[in-house]
Amino acid sequence: MKKICFIVAMAAEAKPLIQHFGLMHQGGRFGQAPSQVYQGNYKNIEITLVTNGKDADTGFDYIGCEAATLSTHLAIAYYHPDIIINAGTAGGFASKGAKIGDVYLSHKYIVFHDRRVDIPGWNRMGQGYFPCIDSDEMARLGGFKQGICTTGSSLDMTEDDAEQMRQTGGEVKDMEAAAVAWVAQLYKTPILCVKAITDLVGADRPTAQQFDDNLSMATQKLRDACFKIVDEHLLRKKK
Ligand code: ADE
Repeated sequence: MKKICFIVAMAAEAKPLIQHFGLMHQGGRFGQAPSQVYQGNYKNIEITLVTNGKDADTGFDYIGCEAATLSTHLAIAYYHPDIIINAGTAGGFASKGAKIGDVYLSHKYIVFHDRRVDIPGWNRMGQGYFPCIDSDEMARLGGFKQGICTTGSSLDMTEDDAEQMRQTGGEVKDMEAAAVAWVAQLYKTPILCVKAITDLVGADRPTAQQFDDNLSMATQKLRDACFKIVDEHLLRKKK
């Protein structure tokens, strides 16, 4: 393990990681793509972190699958990482034991929950089922939960989304993981998702309010988890 690449959607999610790993902003290195690159050497490992960048019109981060696909494709093509870590925040489900601030590692496979193509065969292709690395030992030793990451283009959840999650077992709801995992699969690059829970889907408080209230706390948990994973697991696989 010599090169690790983090793909992170939002600047606020990335900031604690950039600071703690001592990464330097390299700017936008990919032509017109908005993705921003941060790099550094941490304990003789090359760490690259790519954020999705910001929309010039609104000033908001490019969350979602399109920008995540672009960032991941460019990151892999330029930097050839040994592993992609998609680090970010996600919604959890109280019915599946999630609590605000929990950190989940991707488990088994990563799916989409909002691609509805009700023709035999196409539904499975739409859902994706992209593989991720075995996170059992990391979860056990690090005290993290594990869950099937499920991705859609919206913060809210429709009844159709919920039905697809019932089919796939999806339990960690985000807006990028499956897009990142699709590209990782194309390039045969191992992928792990690390997701800190900012909100509980279906709780009394609106998702957006929970997200705003808990974003800062969740990003600290995300940073601590990513450190533990790099220091205690990935650095050991250096040879
Ligand atoms: N990111 C954080 N919370 C989320 C949610 N509930 N759905 C999708 N992405 C999220």
